[in-house]
Amino acid sequence: MADIEQLNGDAQSRIGAAEDLAALEALRVEFLGKQGSVSALLKTLGKMTPEERQEQGPKIHALREAVQAALTARKEALENAALESQLAAETLDLSLPAPGMPQGSVHPVSQVMDELAEIFADLGFAVATGPEIEDDWYNFTALNMPESHPARAMHDTFYFGDNHRAPKGGRMLLRTHTSPVQVRTMLADGAPVRIIAPGRVYRSDSDATHTPMFHQIEGLVIDKGIHLGHLKWTLETFLKAFFEREDIVLRLRPSYFPFTEPSVEVDVGFAIENGQDGKGRRVLGGSGDEPGHGWMELLGSGMVNRRVLEMSGLDPDEWQGFAFGVGVDRLAMLKYGMDDLRAFFDGDVRWLRHYGFSAFDQPTLSAGVGARA
Ligand code: DAH
Repeated sequence: MADIEQLNGDAQSRIGAAEDLAALEALRVEFLGKQGSVSALLKTLGKMTPEERQEQGPKIHALREAVQAALTARKEALENAALESQLAAETLDLSLPAPGMPQGSVHPVSQVMDELAEIFADLGFAVATGPEIEDDWYNFTALNMPESHPARAMHDTFYFGDNHRAPKGGRMLLRTHTSPVQVRTMLADGAPVRIIAPGRVYRSDSDATHTPMFHQIEGLVIDKGIHLGHLKWTLETFLKAFFEREDIVLRLRPSYFPFTEPSVEVDVGFAIENGQDGKGRRVLGGSGDEPGHGWMELLGSGMVNRRVLEMSGLDPDEWQGFAFGVGVDRLAMLKYGMDDLRAFFDGDVRWLRHYGFSAFDQPTLSAGVGARA
């Protein structure tokens, strides 16, 4: 009896202290192997009287089970520890640049979109989206451009074939501007509205300043008693924050868009850098009317046309609003000084290295929206 307890105590402490799987296997052989000490005890059962066996049998079997359980538990603990140390030793830092590979950077278009989202979020605007494959009705008709409207011709639209009929009956197309998101947002959410809608737009057009795909950001505010003053203040505040200068001067010119009445085209004053005009223009402030300064057309805007409000399910006697649309690529070119739009879409890593932004350089209003390349 004392033997059994002593043997168990000895086995438990030595098994618990086994340092590796090899040491553990040696202990298994020592206790439970053919010549093992527990096996030897089991063999004594055969020579016992039935009474002795009845008393000793269960104890010896319990000993064997206790030793076996200790071996199993220790084995599991050793294996877990081995796995832990392997996991600790083999970690892979996926944020590290691959050796010898060019480091990725944030494209100026993404950077500017993030900057715009940050600026407008601060003014209480939410971000809305719409489909790039759009319905004729949202892209044109609901924006007060019915089938025969001449403004449609100015959009150089990519249409889908006749077998792709739109749910509203018209043809499907690649949206030519982000303005259809205005209609979609009003129909889905009603009023009031305060959104920007950034995204890709498409037109069949291609030269140094036009690509078949480019980016726009649409703005829409609908509420009660909204007037041109709200539009002017919003655009001024946005452009000062975007170009990070207080001396920006805007010029609002009467214009025409079917979806706004009145319509306003916004020019920004710029200084001619190094006596150069045309390419490489950067917005540098100045009134535009002084020598060495000029005016540059920047965006379209206006008060949302009553017809558009009606087609978007709102009562124009109750709700008013303003809208604007601006080219994101153009904003990027003006702020960061690129002169050929086509390079935006070449995917040339040397261009990206020059004009791209660090992924760690997130635009925030507190740290400045204008990240430095
Ligand atoms: N959708 C127009 C375009 O692509 C831009 C535009 C002009 C948007 C006036 C507007 C607006 O929201 O009010 O040329």
